[in-house]
Amino acid sequence: MGRNVEVLASGAASIARSLQLVLEKINTATCDRGQCTIVLAGGSTPKALYEAIAKENLPWEKIHVFWGDERYVPQSHPDSNQGMARRAWLDKVDIPAGNIHPMPTDAGDPALDAQKYEAELEEFFKTGAGEFPVFDIVLLGMGDDGHTASLFPHTEALQVRDRFVAVGNKDGQPRLTLTVPLINQARCVIFIALGANKQSALAQVFAPVADEMTYPSRLIRPQGELWWLLDESAGRNLALAASKSPENY
Ligand code: 6PG
Repeated sequence: MGRNVEVLASGAASIARSLQLVLEKINTATCDRGQCTIVLAGGSTPKALYEAIAKENLPWEKIHVFWGDERYVPQSHPDSNQGMARRAWLDKVDIPAGNIHPMPTDAGDPALDAQKYEAELEEFFKTGAGEFPVFDIVLLGMGDDGHTASLFPHTEALQVRDRFVAVGNKDGQPRLTLTVPLINQARCVIFIALGANKQSALAQVFAPVADEMTYPSRLIRPQGELWWLLDESAGRNLALAASKSPENY
């Protein structure tokens, strides 16, 4: 399915647009399938989106929340993606505790916790041998280096094709991350990238040719919809390039 790219006038406009898109996809999933499975991005960008979702009146009992990656720290740690989403959103709404599926980081062994999360996904989605779960929505950010989730350039996690969850590596620090094949099963992947510091990586991610191991966001080609929501600072040059060679965008 094609790539949808929207360059919005500001960060706030990008967050408003991402909220609109997420609400649309939640509604479609709950109407069509009776539930919505959404994977949350970490980092700083999505916090404003999560705060906005918390203000909505949604069928929380039908919404199941997962994470795309997690720093290998306790939930109470300031770097925790789970902690950020709970403070910004999940602690503010009546979502059943059992609908929140955080990545475990308490085994003292990232590989063991990755296996535990994989088992939780297998149980939730009732996947058979060789079958990958299909999430309704996967939210992603993109690092200044072109990474996404905890799929960092030239790391082993980029190569994992037979598992749902892998151990990521950021400068020697372990992370848990969903794998490329699992993300690419999604019905809808939404990247949100804001700020001029994303420009350089975006140019490579959107270039007709560039190394996927160097710019891992290029690996994300979902069987469903792919959306890139950018603010003007991040997407300025892309819009210019697209006007010159629209066939590549
Ligand atoms: C994480 C993320 C990571 C993030 C990007 C962008 O755990 O840090 O999942 O992939 O989305 O690094 O981060 P910002 O939104 O802070 O720019």
